Amino acid sequence: MKKNLHPVDFNHRRNQFLTKIKKSVAVFPAAPEMIRNNDVHHEYRQESNFFYLSGFEEPNSILLFDPQNKSPFQMFVQPKNPTKELWEGPIVGPEGAKKHFGANSAFPSTDPKYFDEAFIKALLEAEVLYYRLGQNEDWDRRIFSLMKQAVRQLGRTGRGFWPIHDPNEILGEMRLIKTRAEAERLEHAANITAEAHVSAMKIAKPGMYEYEIEAALYHAFRGQGAGRLGYGSIVAGGANACVLHYVANNKKLDNQDLLLIDAGAEFEYYTADITRCFPINGQFTQEQKDIYLAVLKAQKSCVKMAKPGKSMKDLHHHAIEVLVEELKKLKVLKGTSSQLIKNKAYLPFYPHGTGHWLGMDVHDSGRYFSENYDTPRKLEPGMVITIEPGLYFGSGSKGPSKYQGIGIRIEDDVLITTSGNKVLTTGAPKEIEEIETLCNSN
Ligand code: GLY
Ligand code: MN
Ligand code: MN
Repeated sequence: MKKNLHPVDFNHRRNQFLTKIKKSVAVFPAAPEMIRNNDVHHEYRQESNFFYLSGFEEPNSILLFDPQNKSPFQMFVQPKNPTKELWEGPIVGPEGAKKHFGANSAFPSTDPKYFDEAFIKALLEAEVLYYRLGQNEDWDRRIFSLMKQAVRQLGRTGRGFWPIHDPNEILGEMRLIKTRAEAERLEHAANITAEAHVSAMKIAKPGMYEYEIEAALYHAFRGQGAGRLGYGSIVAGGANACVLHYVANNKKLDNQDLLLIDAGAEFEYYTADITRCFPINGQFTQEQKDIYLAVLKAQKSCVKMAKPGKSMKDLHHHAIEVLVEELKKLKVLKGTSSQLIKNKAYLPFYPHGTGHWLGMDVHDSGRYFSENYDTPRKLEPGMVITIEPGLYFGSGSKGPSKYQGIGIRIEDDVLITTSGNKVLTTGAPKEIEEIETLCNSN
């Protein structure tokens, strides 16, 4: 746990959302429980928008926003149940939802009639339905069936179905600009994560397995109060680093391997996302240094550039420019820079983007383009982004053979401020000398 963080004001978020949806109704089903086998479930995590608006973590729940109603925020939750609570722990129940989670009214979700009646009533007064289609087919069917019932109740009015808008378009925008409470949680997640990367650098030795490092990261995350991983940890030794979403984490680490770790702790529903690479035996080879320094140059230059007025596209283009120059110096690419960029000659070595929004989800919500989706959107204070260029020379890659098997990515989390930015992940060193010192310190 971390003390002295500003509390998250869920009520303020709901009021903001309610003012944006006016004559509409909005529905948020809780994340479904996923059965792993028999009576065992996968780990449960509340759906991000649901949590953002309520702070409520129980499954089998629904949020209904009905701005026309004197109870504009209604919750449908699991009723108290002593037998279930004996096995699974306390259930908040409808009374608790009103008392502790700000519901204006709350009903049991176990009897569908409560939600169905409230939803139809709200729909009859509304012009638009905010509901995220395509996430859960059972829910899509339920919503359609209730809309059909509602339209029948209207009789011969000639009115058709309600237009359905994705509430994520509103919430993505709200979530994109972080409040102080959110930035603090992200910074705390970043600190926990940076510390875990540092301890990985210290403990990794030739002959260990990737999963031992993965376990050490998890130990460091949970030991510092992180709720869970923000995403599956990538612990990729040697050429495994060239597999962008490598998750097997089961290879033995060789003496000359570099280890790429892309891992992030989630703290109170906000996740960090850090990548670092270091030599298992504590010393970069010359070839590893060549590639590492090329990526580092691009990464640091992009961090410098990240400020209000620039776009993610600007950063990506800049990363490509720097990487192409470096690849030319290393004789991986030949030709004029403009032609190499135009022909995307860098793609075999740099196949991914340079960053993304970061927040409750590792690839967080929010538009990357202007409202009309025609121009890349400019960065604004309060946004948090990752900056993560890389270079990869997988087996069979086109580069010189001396670089085969090298994969490097360097990823920081960056809060955009009015004057520029604040790197949240400075606790994880990225200079070669600092890394080698840490690797040799245990
Ligand atoms: N860890 C996922 C990403 O870097 O985008
Ligand atoms: Mn990332
Ligand atoms: Mn990452």
